[in-house]
Amino acid sequence: MQRKIMVLHGPNLNRLGTREPSIYGSRKLTDINKLLEEKASGHGVTLEIFQSNSEAALIDQIQKAPDLKCEFLVINPAAFTHTSVALRDAISSVNIRFIEVHLSNIHSRESFRHKSFFSDLAEGVICGLGDYGYEVALEYAINQLKMK
Ligand code: DQA
Repeated sequence: MQRKIMVLHGPNLNRLGTREPSIYGSRKLTDINKLLEEKASGHGVTLEIFQSNSEAALIDQIQKAPDLKCEFLVINPAAFTHTSVALRDAISSVNIRFIEVHLSNIHSRESFRHKSFFSDLAEGVICGLGDYGYEVALEYAINQLKMK
């Protein structure tokens, strides 16, 4: 069976590369995605990668996970991390295992970023490792699928 992992990027992450590079790094989202695709295909895993600035579009994509046969989710909810009960509920509604990723260390930043609506449900949370965090999350997800 073809193993599939969903990767979701929340609002403003389409601006990576030019958006506050001292916080988020200088790599573009397209470059990060390419790297993840390469890693996944090396393991025979397919990725469903999606970015949106819209909460509704992200919810719709999460709801598609069962139909798309995605068995694991790597998500950076970006600013929705700190606000969105709706996105959290969407993940619960499809009952998918997931890792929460943040490029920056949200705990060393403004206090409003310390609260996440996802962390208590996540299998793991990675923050502060820059785009390497996505790689680590994907590696973990791939290993988990292989163990199944
Ligand atoms: C972020 C951290 C969030 O607080 C912020 O709103 C983002 C990106 C990160 O990857 O570090 O947009 O999720």
